[in-house]
Amino acid sequence: MSFDRLEHASRDEIVAHQMQRVAATLRHAYEHVAHYRASFDAACVRPDDFRTLADLSRFPMLTKADLRANYPYGMFAVPREKIARIHASSGTTGKPTVVGYTQNDLDAWAGLVARSIRAAGGRAGMRVHVAYGYGLFTGGLGAHYGVERLGCTVIPVSGGQTERQVQLIQDFEPDLIMVTPSYMLAILDAFRAAGVDPRGTTLKAGIFGAEPWGEGMRSEIEGAFGIDAVDIYGLSEVMGPGVAQECVETKDGPHIWEDHFYPEIIDPVTGAVLPDGETGELVFTSLSKEAMPIIRYRTRDLTALLPGTARNMRRMRRITGRSDDMMIVRGVNVFPTQIEELVLATPELSGHFQVELTRAGRLDEIAVHTEARVEYLNVPGVGVALAARIKERLGVSASVLVLPPGSVERSLGKARRVIDRRPKD
Ligand code: DLL
Repeated sequence: MSFDRLEHASRDEIVAHQMQRVAATLRHAYEHVAHYRASFDAACVRPDDFRTLADLSRFPMLTKADLRANYPYGMFAVPREKIARIHASSGTTGKPTVVGYTQNDLDAWAGLVARSIRAAGGRAGMRVHVAYGYGLFTGGLGAHYGVERLGCTVIPVSGGQTERQVQLIQDFEPDLIMVTPSYMLAILDAFRAAGVDPRGTTLKAGIFGAEPWGEGMRSEIEGAFGIDAVDIYGLSEVMGPGVAQECVETKDGPHIWEDHFYPEIIDPVTGAVLPDGETGELVFTSLSKEAMPIIRYRTRDLTALLPGTARNMRRMRRITGRSDDMMIVRGVNVFPTQIEELVLATPELSGHFQVELTRAGRLDEIAVHTEARVEYLNVPGVGVALAARIKERLGVSASVLVLPPGSVERSLGKARRVIDRRPKD
């Protein structure tokens, strides 16, 4: 059955396909990867024990620590000469996680990114500016080959040299841009600094991902550039960008490309599988990957599975955050995206912000560093008002600093939202 035909398949067809592909992936992993053989044996399960999709919950989960323990090539299920490309995710501590792709894997990936761009409104013949970083990060090259596969013209700019991004958008007249939402704000600043109207470009839509972002950020970008802003989700361990994509006609959260990835939501503490609609940790099993099959990979991303709308495939609620990003400040759980929504709901502030955590004595302190918009320099009371809203909505006492434009650290890709200066204990 051709994978691409399944984009619009019925639920029954999707489920039948998933059954068959999960079974094949379990066998492939068990037969070719020592880690899976050992972990299945330890859990007393064999690929033959998989008879319905619910049986998948009997198989052990895979964590980033397992991938690190098998660094660099221990998780590969094909001989090394069959590996056509390697990517790696940097990670904040320790060794990176390495992922490998066969030529078939790269073809499938390009097909899914092409499908994602089409769902975002892209069509053959369009020009696409790619400002995700190129290199070991999957963003740049992942987007690149999808653009080509759709029959578009790729403009492989990568991240950085922000003034030049502005120049190239004006000169090369792209229809679409693919970039992290936080870097799109940096590009917006550069448009304004150059005295160029951001609404005057040829851009029609942007495909933003690689980091959490909310509706406030969507309105900010759509309003400033006069474009549609849609969400693309993915992670290197599972493939890269294009695991899930929001459709431009509904803008209601990314549809998971369920013909290639089987999603589950688990309770992050007990590991129990939760029903659709409930929030928990997203777990993926790959259905087509050859080089590095993934069985029940714990993403750490917190979301819920929702019914399909623009497609029959299920959606994921936009990610509120990763369990690793959750700040626990004086017992209250806070995600950077919650701060982002409140910052962007403050007209005097630009969308750039960073949260600094410190400890004074036994108590955690949280400081939000924000920036005034140029039109609203030195307006009194903005920081105090935001601090009051943070207290009211999130239940934490934060101090808010309103800094001059350009003061908050800019990223060229994923924004660093939290600086944790608390002593490690
Ligand atoms: O960020 C792949 C990617 C590139 C996705 C370009 C989209 C666009 P990693 O560096 O391995 O891969 O990071 C994966 O980033 O587990 C999420 O926590 C986060 N993430 C990715 N996309 C989104 C999104 C790429 N749309 C990790 N919304 C994931 C929220 C996202 N978080």
